[in-house]
Amino acid sequence: MQSHTGPGDLTSVDLTDLALFADGPPHELFARLRSECPVHWNNTADGPGFWSLTRGSDITAASLDPVTFSSARGGIFFRPDTLIPLEVGRRDFMLWKDPPEHAKYRNVITKFCLPRTLILVDAVVDDIVTNTLDAVAQRGRCDVVGDIAVPVVATVIARLLGAPDEDIEQLNAWTRDIEQGITLDLNQSASVEEMGRYCAKLVGSQVVRGVDSLANTLAQPDGDGNRLSQSEIAGFFAMLLFVGNNHPRNAISSAVHALLENPDQLELLRAESPRMRTTRSGLAPVALEELLRWSTPVNYLARTATTDTTIAGTDIKAGDRVVMWYASASRDPDLFPGADRLDVTRDKCDPPHYAFGGGGEYFCQGAALTYRIMSVTLREILRRLPELALAGPVTYERSAFVTAPTSVPVRFDRTGSLDTQRREQDLVDELERLTGKTVTLES
Ligand code: HEM
Repeated sequence: MQSHTGPGDLTSVDLTDLALFADGPPHELFARLRSECPVHWNNTADGPGFWSLTRGSDITAASLDPVTFSSARGGIFFRPDTLIPLEVGRRDFMLWKDPPEHAKYRNVITKFCLPRTLILVDAVVDDIVTNTLDAVAQRGRCDVVGDIAVPVVATVIARLLGAPDEDIEQLNAWTRDIEQGITLDLNQSASVEEMGRYCAKLVGSQVVRGVDSLANTLAQPDGDGNRLSQSEIAGFFAMLLFVGNNHPRNAISSAVHALLENPDQLELLRAESPRMRTTRSGLAPVALEELLRWSTPVNYLARTATTDTTIAGTDIKAGDRVVMWYASASRDPDLFPGADRLDVTRDKCDPPHYAFGGGGEYFCQGAALTYRIMSVTLREILRRLPELALAGPVTYERSAFVTAPTSVPVRFDRTGSLDTQRREQDLVDELERLTGKTVTLES
């Protein structure tokens, strides 16, 4: 990894250089930027450059002012045309929209967070996690990314969208195309269009059949009579398909890696002290927040200044691009005392992290769903894979956009797995019933 951690010039730092992200985000470099140059001009080899914000307070201020810091004007990635042409993003996806148009989407989409939708999801998450862990618990080793996080999250999202399980491979392929498009600055219009057609079909069939589904929930008008058209819902589905599939899987995989690198914290969770006691639904919320802070899955999103302004005393010109580094803000010691220490018992901070953005209008609408998936999956990993340890090198995607483990190989004691014990006890019970005698495992 290129080093920008020692004393020296920060002016040449280019955060679009993927070499900096070979092992995840460059946290030491972010620490220097926060303290020495928190509003940093980043020259790029072949573009106009951008301002990098690395402190939490500056990112919060920019996020809370979408009129000055626009998502629509130049899109939300390093370059306006990354992934898809800017006009397509603005037309089809709410993340590219500014107020007041954004509010129409937001109001209707908050329905997505209604308890009813979460109850729908609740009903499937436990089952999916149990089935996935059933498949690995007997093996004694597995890859947390490919064997647990990817299948669990993709299956939950498929169920939420009403997509059949046999399409999951295709959903994962599109998710990969989009992530690569953003990371490598590729035009992936073909995949996005294909995904859009798929989602339109899915939405159309659910709305026509009137089935109890997310599409139909979203098709209902909000309190002001605003409603989304089928094609707008399809655009929303396409976005959910990517963000819902990509980010939670990265959050789960990174969380397991973080706990294995910090065994004292893993022990705290396993010991279930009163503060850490798992709720019925999974891991203690305080621990989840800390794991999201530690490995903030979306590293950055961008805005464009609509007018001349200043951030922390630095002049920003209308039209300048501004990149908000959430991965850095989540480690800002001004907001999180001892920020470079993973502490699953950390006292509540406000905000708890920047994983779901800088707050305000664009705060992640999938936060509740993410907590639910993460919480149940991590609870079951801790419960059913005893003696969990790393079994090889952990690798990360070279990406400035996401913190995405590509492999977290682990081993565990398969004979001690609760699943094995449960099966053995079932066997004992059955033998006792058949023989009418007391049976022990040794006998
Ligand atoms: C660990 C998981 C996740 C992370 C790290 C994450 C991150 C984010 C971030 C940073 C934003 C802010 C966008 C901005 O300011 O421009 C956002 C917005 C959003 N997220 Fe998530 N997200 C996650 C999971 C999900 C899930 C599971 C869903 C839905 C299935 C979802 C749906 C959304 C939506 C709809 C918005 C747009 C909100 C708006 O424009 O008003 N997210 N997310």
